[in-house]
Amino acid sequence: MAERFLGIETSCDETSAAVIERHGGAVELKSLVILSQDVHRVFGGVVPELASRQHLKVIDPVVTQALAEAGTELDDLAAVAVTAGPGLIGALLVGVMYAKGLSQAGALPLIGVHHHEGHLFAPVFEDPLFAPPFVALLVSGGHTMLLDVPAWGEYRLLGQTIDDAAGEAFDKVATMLGLPYPGGAALERLAATGRADRYRFPRPLLKHAQQPHQHRCNFSFSGLKTALLYACRDSGDLDADRADLARGFQDALVEVLVEKTALAVQLTGRPRAAVVGGVACNRTLTHRLRERLAGLATVTVATPRLNTDNAAMIAAAGAWRMARGERHDSRLEPFDWRPLPGLVAVPLGETIATR
Ligand code: KG4
Ligand code: ZN
Repeated sequence: MAERFLGIETSCDETSAAVIERHGGAVELKSLVILSQDVHRVFGGVVPELASRQHLKVIDPVVTQALAEAGTELDDLAAVAVTAGPGLIGALLVGVMYAKGLSQAGALPLIGVHHHEGHLFAPVFEDPLFAPPFVALLVSGGHTMLLDVPAWGEYRLLGQTIDDAAGEAFDKVATMLGLPYPGGAALERLAATGRADRYRFPRPLLKHAQQPHQHRCNFSFSGLKTALLYACRDSGDLDADRADLARGFQDALVEVLVEKTALAVQLTGRPRAAVVGGVACNRTLTHRLRERLAGLATVTVATPRLNTDNAAMIAAAGAWRMARGERHDSRLEPFDWRPLPGLVAVPLGETIATR
């Protein structure tokens, strides 16, 4: 029997609602509304208090529109799924309280979803064959990690950033180069016009990957960011050098992401690698990863609106958790940080045990 789920996402600066339908093992996207907040642009970063107020203003029309576009009434829904965290606590609170209200009003089951698990489900709408086992590179503004996913709900941490997230590094370097916040996509466009051989920046922790070291899948981007800062300062003509600097930065960061993902595929022997999170919108990253993994693993990447924060992925993860019999109730509380449910650390060596 087909079941419809409403998803709600308000963890950062996107207010989003979606209706999805699950029939058998497949999920179909019925509607997706995403409203990105512009108020933060002048501040060069997300201002938590402004984010909460903006969510509060638009959450009702955003959900109403998602329901209307899907031709769905509250009564038609099987459940409401909402991002419970990690994220900005005030922003999460708006989505969670709204979802609780709907759940009470419509006597609907409620399920709180971990934002990172949501990102992992993003490709299910476009690729019906997308399912574990796979290696996931989760790269966004707030997180960067490599996971081995033997089954939904089982997440084996292979590596993560020890400082900045990849998207955060993109955004900060974009600001140095005079691009408006958040500058990841604009930096990619600028880099496309830059020369490859002008600047060669460090590839942090890449040599490290060749050794049978326990942390060989970890990332670090703060040193690369500082290298950019010095290069910008040393440039006699930043206007003339901007595109080459952007190219040099993107080449360094992408090479590290690609090589570590290839290492994760090699260590686990998984037949598929998925790139999820906002930085998965970067075409240079996905193109080079496909080249690097040709003949080794299939690379799965969702379309941009499903990579950046959205409620469809939250609804998909929630529908899967509900099918396992999980439920929350009006005691559901948002959380600013908590590890992925089912996350375990995997000791790395020459190879690792898989299942
Ligand atoms: O997943 P997301 O929407 O939000 C978080 O959960 O953090 O990711 C947003 C991040 C931002 O840092 C943004 O600059 C980056 O994704 N991003 C990109 C591109 N498009 C978005 N980074 C590099 N290249 C892109 N094309
Ligand atoms: Zn996200």
